[in-house]
Amino acid sequence: MVFKKVCTLDDVWEGEMDCYEVDGQEVLLVGLEGGDIRAYQAVCPHQDIPLAEGRFDGKRLICRAHQWVFDACTGIGINPGDCRLASYPIKIEDDAVYVDTADIKPLFAHT
Ligand code: FES
Repeated sequence: MVFKKVCTLDDVWEGEMDCYEVDGQEVLLVGLEGGDIRAYQAVCPHQDIPLAEGRFDGKRLICRAHQWVFDACTGIGINPGDCRLASYPIKIEDDAVYVDTADIKPLFAHT
């Protein structure tokens, strides 16, 4: 695994999301309700729209384009249920957030 430092914990607030480039890939960091952090592909699996342009309430990610909904804890599609976001391993050391994108590519679903 090749973890790269992406930001600090202060940059990922609960209920907020932001996009970062890690090793040439766009990664979306989300601050879950309760304080955990997840790292997902930054584009919607439907039609490549940036998920950071959508909505996030600390539990669910909603794409702005056609309102696909994802569980922000797992990355699994809620509506529709037959899709998911690629998830990147994450680690926290001191106050820094590290992400490993090696061998993980964004997923795409039916149209
Ligand atoms: S591009 Fe995201 S729901 Fe269609």
